[in-house]
This record gives sequence, C-alpha cells and structure tokens, in this order.
Amino acid sequence: MLRIAVINQKGGVGKTTTTVNLGAALARRGHRVLLLDMDPQANLTVHVDKRPDLESHTLTNLLVEDAPLRDLVQATAVPNLFVVPSDTSLAGVEQVLANRIGRETILREALEAFPAAKDFDFVLFDCPPSLGVLSANALVAADRVVIPMQAEYLSLQGMAKLLEVIQLVQKRLNPALQIACVLPCMVDARTNLSTEVLREIDTHFGPLLAKARIRNNVKLAEAPSFGLTIFQHAPDSNGARDYEAFAAEFLTMVGLGVAPVARPAQTVDTPPAATPPAATPPAAGAEGTAGTA
Ligand SMILES: Nc1ncnc2c1ncn2[C@@H]1O[C@H](COP(=O)(O)OP(=O)(O)OP(=O)(O)O)[C@@H](O)[C@H]1O
Ligand SMILES: [Mg+2]
Repeated sequence: MLRIAVINQKGGVGKTTTTVNLGAALARRGHRVLLLDMDPQANLTVHVDKRPDLESHTLTNLLVEDAPLRDLVQATAVPNLFVVPSDTSLAGVEQVLANRIGRETILREALEAFPAAKDFDFVLFDCPPSLGVLSANALVAADRVVIPMQAEYLSLQGMAKLLEVIQLVQKRLNPALQIACVLPCMVDARTNLSTEVLREIDTHFGPLLAKARIRNNVKLAEAPSFGLTIFQHAPDSNGARDYEAFAAEFLTMVGLGVAPVARPAQTVDTPPAATPPAATPPAAGAEGTAGTA
C-alpha cells in the first residue's frame, strides 16, 4: 500500500481533480484505490457521486470518535475505486482536536489498525486548502506527496511554507515522507504566461517537476457536476489523456513501472475482503526514486 497526500494550501489549484482522476486512472489499470476526502468542502465526495450530508459516517467520525476505517469505506461506481467521504462537520475538527495529544497521528494509527488497508494498492488523501490538523494528519500518514500547482503568477507564493511544513513532518513525525512530484495543472500551453510560470516552477523544483502537464480542459471542470471521473465523463478528452499520462509517469516515479497489474477489477458488489489473500503481495511496496524536499 502506498499512501499519497495530494496537497497545496492554495485553493483551487487542482487537488481534488487530481486525486479523483489519478485515483481513477490507477483503478482502471487494475490497482485497488482508496480516496480519503480530508476537506470539509467535500468536493471529492461529490465528485464520486456521494452525498456528504446524508452519510452518517465520514472522516469526522474517524478523527473525533476513533470510528474504525472499515465502517467508513464506501464503494464508488468505478470498479476498484473506494472512498471515505467527508462532510461539513469536518470543519469543526481543528477546534475539537486543538488540545488533544497526538492529534496529528490519528489517521496514521487508523490506517495501521485497518486490516483491509493491505488490500488497497494506493490510498490518496485529498487535502483542504489549509495547513491545519487535517493536512498534518495526511502528511503524517503519507509515504509520498503530490503537489498540484496552477500555472499562474503567484502560484509559487506559499510554497516555502508548504515545504517547511513537509520538512517539519519529516523531521518530527514521518521521516519516510517524500515529495513525489509537483504537477502543473490547468496549463494553457498557448500562453506565454503558462510557459514562463512553468519555467519558474522548473527553476525551483528541477527533477521534482512532473513531465506530465494537465491542460486546461472544460471536460475536467464539467465532470464533478455529473459525479463522474474524467474517464467516465469524457474518455476521449485531453483531460482523460493528461491524467492517464500522469498516472503512467506516477507509477514509474514510485517504482511500479507502467505495466498494468494482472488482477481482476473489483466491482462495487465485492468490497475489499477483511483479510488480504496471502498470494497478493502489496503492489506498492517498492521503493521509488522520488527525491525528498
Ligand atoms: N485542468 C483543468 N481544466 C479546467 N478546469 C479544471 C482543471 N482542473 C480543475 N479544474 C476546475 O477548477 C476548479 C478547482 O479545481 P479543484 O477543485 O480540483 O481544486 P482544489 O485545489 O481541490 O480546490 P480547493 O482548494 O478548493 O480544494 C474546479 O472547478 C475544477 O473542476
Ligand atoms: Mg479540493
């Protein structure tokens, strides 16, 4: 199991779009993927067609009441793709946990105590646009960080703070944490602006800058309103092509290459078993080549 925090405290840069569609691209290749909605806005929950306010069990139950993960995981309409939903109650979690000792490690402990976690090849955390206790939980529980970044002026603003937080988590709570990549999102290759900003991002991040580019694509913007991933909504769009290309690059980054795993797709009728089959090794155990912050 490889755990990935999709994070950038800047709002509207493509975190949720990346979490859903990277997750869906990995699921299409036969990997079993769990998405965790760490954002009180619950955009990811809606994007995979769940109704947050009608769900009795969300991430809030886990963080505040220690509800076990197995009670929170729901299947989506996409084979191999599962979700732990969020709702607006997550907004109160920062305050509720303010004085609780060990509040940053709750999610990591919940994943460790979840026997079926081993059934998932990837767990993706969609972080909120802030660096509070929710993002801290994601960074402490994660193996890798993906930083979506908009190709816009000021996109590097705040990056020093994010890198500082990542370094602090590495030092104090999660030494194994690595930055997988910075992913340029909403790129308009026709404008000098995008090109200039990408050059600037390259200067700052060098090898950590992904080769994939997620172009501006209206189909990506439409898909959430239908509760569909880009591969369901517009499989022939540039958005689908770009996230497919990024998924292939991502698998190489984490040492899994581009070959699809030979495993039957799991449907909504067959949620993950409580215990993983002994013959199924954790597909994402290999160490990757990604650099650190
Ligand atoms: N490549 C793209 N082309 C066009 N629209 C996009 C693209 N990526 C994301 N969008 C749209 O831009 C908006 C912001 O994207 P998204 O919700 O993924 O960002 P976010 O970083 O998760 O935002 P927040 O910080 O609020 O959680 C959404 O309406 C989304 O549909
Ligand atoms: Mg979001």
